[in-house]
Amino acid sequence: MKIISLFLLILLNVSAVYLSNKSCKECHKDIYNEYKYSYHSKGYFNDILHRKVADKISLKKYDCATCHMPASNNIKEMISGKDRPNQQNITNSDAISCFFCHEIAYVKKAHRFNINIVTKQVEGYKPSLYGSLENPDENDKHSSLNNPLYNKNVCKGCHAHKRNENGLLIFQTMKKDENSKECIKCHMPYIPGGNENMNKRARTKHRSHYFKGIRSSEMRKKSVSIKINLNKKDNIIITLKNKMSHPLIVQAAREMFLQVLVKRGDKVIWSNKQDKNSYFKYEYLKGKKDIVIPYTATSYKWYNNLAGNSSKEYNYKVSGLKKGDKIIASFYMIIAKKSCLQDIDLRGSDLDKPLLAKQVILIVK
Ligand code: HEC
Ligand code: HEC
Ligand code: HEC
Ligand code: HEC
Ligand code: HEC
Repeated sequence: MKIISLFLLILLNVSAVYLSNKSCKECHKDIYNEYKYSYHSKGYFNDILHRKVADKISLKKYDCATCHMPASNNIKEMISGKDRPNQQNITNSDAISCFFCHEIAYVKKAHRFNINIVTKQVEGYKPSLYGSLENPDENDKHSSLNNPLYNKNVCKGCHAHKRNENGLLIFQTMKKDENSKECIKCHMPYIPGGNENMNKRARTKHRSHYFKGIRSSEMRKKSVSIKINLNKKDNIIITLKNKMSHPLIVQAAREMFLQVLVKRGDKVIWSNKQDKNSYFKYEYLKGKKDIVIPYTATSYKWYNNLAGNSSKEYNYKVSGLKKGDKIIASFYMIIAKKSCLQDIDLRGSDLDKPLLAKQVILIVK
């Protein structure tokens, strides 16, 4: 009997159980609404930047699914090019789904990118979802299991690093031994309200699922600090500090820059526009040819980034500064640089509009 039921269990495992994002809304309405705002709910069908880049790379293979559509029941077929993303397939259109994130049991380290190992759910049984609540309340849709992964390594499966097929590093958000604790502190702060509609445990706060990032002005403001010092009347020293644990640039399409202007009245009398080191971005080569999308790149052409928790000093000589001149230092972020929008035919979108992160002003005395 034991052998037979074990055999049955193995067979049953084959047809994967899936609970959609929408199904969580019945009980976790607030978290669902937060999640819908977040970029974890965006992907091939509702993020034009992602779709255009993916289609430019290949109209056959969709190997982005590993991280962007990880819950897919046809993931192998999409990676090999036998199948395409299908909006009617909920496991595709749910993007980085609630169910997937809460099924991650273990993160396996690997050279190109890490791999999420999810728990096997057995059909006919309540699915087990992992989290880190103490003493979670009963419910009839899923059982709750505590897994230390949820305050440790859960972000590591997708965000740690990515290399392309030539082994070139495309992004690195986490250092080798870093865990996710700090990521959660900054990106999932506690916000008021219970985590579930009935809230029988009378909880007063829950982890935010907005996952705010570059598109949030409140987050951008927290990203860097800027200090202006004036030395010997003509030497402007700017100290830019990255206050995040990760580098400024963690996505190939991005560009960021430090703009320094000296204004006399309304007129700009000096700017640092010519300083290449004030622009943060990656540019790529395939062999000797310039390319924008790094999918097939073999090396960097230009590479300027600022590591997490580190500073960079800029030293500018500006002669003839007068009392009342304004030194304005601003840090801007761009979601997709111009060359990227040209390459994927998305000209005319406002994705290359500089978004202000931080501004500091010093008036010459
Ligand atoms: C190893 C996991 C992984 C793989 C594989 C992967 N990505 Fe990503 N991608 C990420 C992560 C993590 C982010 C979030 C980083 C960020 O927002 O800066 C991201 C962000 C992006 C963005 C920026 C979206 C935005 O917020 O504007 C684009 C575009 C993108 N990926 C395209 C692709 C394409 C196209 C593929 C397939 C060729 C792909 N990615 C494969 C992990 C991955
Ligand atoms: C029938 C209602 C119901 C549905 C539907 C539901 N949940 Fe829950 N869930 C609960 C309750 C009740 C708790 C316990 C809340 C508490 O103790 O504060 C909970 C807790 C959780 C936890 C915390 C577990 C822990 O141990 O930390 C996670 C994660 C979770 N749910 C995810 C989901 C996801 C993902 C979905 C959709 C696939 C979902 N839930 C659907 C009722 C539900
Ligand atoms: C299954 C893969 C996966 C996991 C696990 C994951 N992410 Fe993401 N995350 C992504 C991808 C892919 C994107 C980019 C989505 C897009 O813009 O198309 C992203 C985007 C983000 C963004 C950017 C949002 C924005 O508005 O630009 C933040 C912040 C983020 N993730 C934080 C986290 C944190 C913190 C964790 C761990 C608790 C985590 N992620 C776990 C795949 C993942
Ligand atoms: C990118 C991965 C990711 C996605 C997507 C995600 N969660 Fe979570 N969720 C987490 C992590 C990580 C925690 C635990 C943070 C901690 O306790 O340190 C968490 C916590 C929770 C909790 C307990 C919250 C608390 O503080 O009381 C619930 C309930 C929950 N998630 C439900 C959901 C639902 C419902 C969705 C979709 C609407 C969802 N999650 C999507 C990563 C994710
Ligand atoms: C000290 C706070 C802090 C910590 C710790 C932190 N972040 Fe961030 N992160 C930010 C801020 C602020 C932004 C918004 C500015 C930006 O996009 O550069 C951001 C942006 C992001 C983005 C979007 C970048 C883009 O270009 O769209 C991703 C993805 C991200 N963080 C993931 C992570 C992950 C994964 C971890 C853990 C290794 C982490 N963050 C740790 C503060 C933090």
